[in-house]
Amino acid sequence: MNSELISLLADGSFHSGVELGRRLGITRAAVWKNISQLEDIGLQTERVKGVGYRLTEPLSLLSDSTIFDKSDTSVKHLIGAFIIVDSLESTNDYIKTSMESRQGYILCLAEHQSAGRGRRGKSWISPYGKNLYLSVGFNFERGFEALNGLSLVVGIAVARSIADLGLAAKLKWPNDVWIEKKKVAGILVEVDGEQGGPLRLVVGLGVNVNMKPCDAEIDQPWTSLATELGRIVDRSALAASLVGNLLTLMEQFKQRGFVGMKEEWQEFDGVSGSRVTLANQDKEEQGICRGVDHRGYLLLESDGKIQAFSGGELSLRIA
Ligand code: BTN
Repeated sequence: MNSELISLLADGSFHSGVELGRRLGITRAAVWKNISQLEDIGLQTERVKGVGYRLTEPLSLLSDSTIFDKSDTSVKHLIGAFIIVDSLESTNDYIKTSMESRQGYILCLAEHQSAGRGRRGKSWISPYGKNLYLSVGFNFERGFEALNGLSLVVGIAVARSIADLGLAAKLKWPNDVWIEKKKVAGILVEVDGEQGGPLRLVVGLGVNVNMKPCDAEIDQPWTSLATELGRIVDRSALAASLVGNLLTLMEQFKQRGFVGMKEEWQEFDGVSGSRVTLANQDKEEQGICRGVDHRGYLLLESDGKIQAFSGGELSLRIA
């Protein structure tokens, strides 16, 4: 992948093959070959004879200096490492292989994922330079039971950053983020460790930022921040905001658990009061959502009784 070529084209303006070849030190034929490969990573290009090439949409590329400058100073000391990668298979997998003996939070952002993963074995569409693909790795001492609460806390962090852009995000238990009933972000928490011992966690976050409906076919209703706002969003500024909110809330969660965060989660709750079906591989439960308890378990009312359910591989469908 030619990231220099992508940087030159990121402004969305036309650039002639001669100019691109000169700046990259390659032939015009090589420019054409490189441009034709951009489609494979989700970038659409246009060629006009006698004028040159352009991307059909400008890109807001990740800038490490912007992310660093805009990051909340109160969380910077918590970061053990922060890596920005051009293209990789999955930021979650990257973190898993680079966490050994590291202290603090290890963060990885990528411009593109070739094998982005979602929950329940689904893939996560990850075109180059359009969305945010972020993973955070850290050690966790509160045990498996606390993990439900943790993924809800990540949802609050995302909803706060989206609210700062002037949009109303809603959370669908356990960890989907919606705007107007369309998915805008997803959270994948992966765990390594033994019962009773410290756990190594990787929190993966995918946010649809500047992806447009024509950029991807996804088998459920979805939207992006740019679609909702009608303008391109600065991905680096958003990444800085997310890192600040995520690390602040995770630190609070490590000390006090989910208890103090339940009220804020319920303010963002998009399903409370709705009739739903809760399912895993073996069985289904129907009822009305009644928010969450102090651990982050879903409260479901059926036949006049309220039962609490933990996350795991449960999926929630709204009737
Ligand atoms: C979901 O299915 O809703 C969860 C999607 C999680 C996607 C993110 S993108 C960054 C990180 N790397 C991955 O491979 N997956 C997560």
